[in-house]
Amino acid sequence: MRSRTFHTNSAEETVSLGRELSKELHGVVLLIGNLGAGKTTLTKGIVEGRGVTGADDVSSPTFTLIHQYGDAEPVFHIDLYRLEEARQVESLGLDDLFRSGGLVLLEWAERFPELLPAERTEIRLRAVSEDGREITVVD
Ligand SMILES: Nc1ncnc2c1ncn2[C@@H]1O[C@H](COP(=O)(O)OP(=O)(O)OP(=O)(O)O)[C@@H](O)[C@H]1O
Ligand SMILES: [Mg+2]
Repeated sequence: MRSRTFHTNSAEETVSLGRELSKELHGVVLLIGNLGAGKTTLTKGIVEGRGVTGADDVSSPTFTLIHQYGDAEPVFHIDLYRLEEARQVESLGLDDLFRSGGLVLLEWAERFPELLPAERTEIRLRAVSEDGREITVVD
C-alpha cells in the first residue's frame, strides 16, 4: 500500500491535481470526504485529464446517481449520497461497471463497504481551511 498526500489552495488547483492523477488512476476509485470537500471538483480534473470531456461538462450525479463520460474508454462518476439501503445500490448494477475495465469514481460509496471490491484506490479529501484541501491517495 502506497500513500501520497497533496495540498491544494483553490478549486482550480484541485482540478489540476485531478488532471495529473488521471494518468495513473484505473479501476475503482473511492472519493472520500465530507460535503464540499472537493470530490466532484477533483473528478472534473480526472475526467478532463482522460480526454473524454471538458471539466465544465462534469456535474454532480447527486440525483442521476451515475454519469458516464466517453465511450471507448469511459469514466463513470457515481454518487451514492441519496441512497439509504444496500438493496437500492445493488439495483444500480455497479458490479458490471466494476468489471467493465472503465475508470469508476465513487462518492459516498464507503457507506456500503460490503458492495465494494477489495482492489481499489482511495482518495481522501479534507478541508483544512476555507480554500485549502488535503488530498491523500492510497493505492
Ligand atoms: N482547494 C479546493 N479544492 C476543491 N474545492 C474547493 C477548494 N477550495 C474551495 N473549494 C470549493 O469547495 C466546494 C467543493 O465542492 P464539491 O462539489 O467538489 O464537493 P464534494 O466533495 O463533491 O461534495 P458533495 O459531498 O456535496 O458531493 C466548491 O464550492 C469549491 O469551489
Ligand atoms: Mg460531489
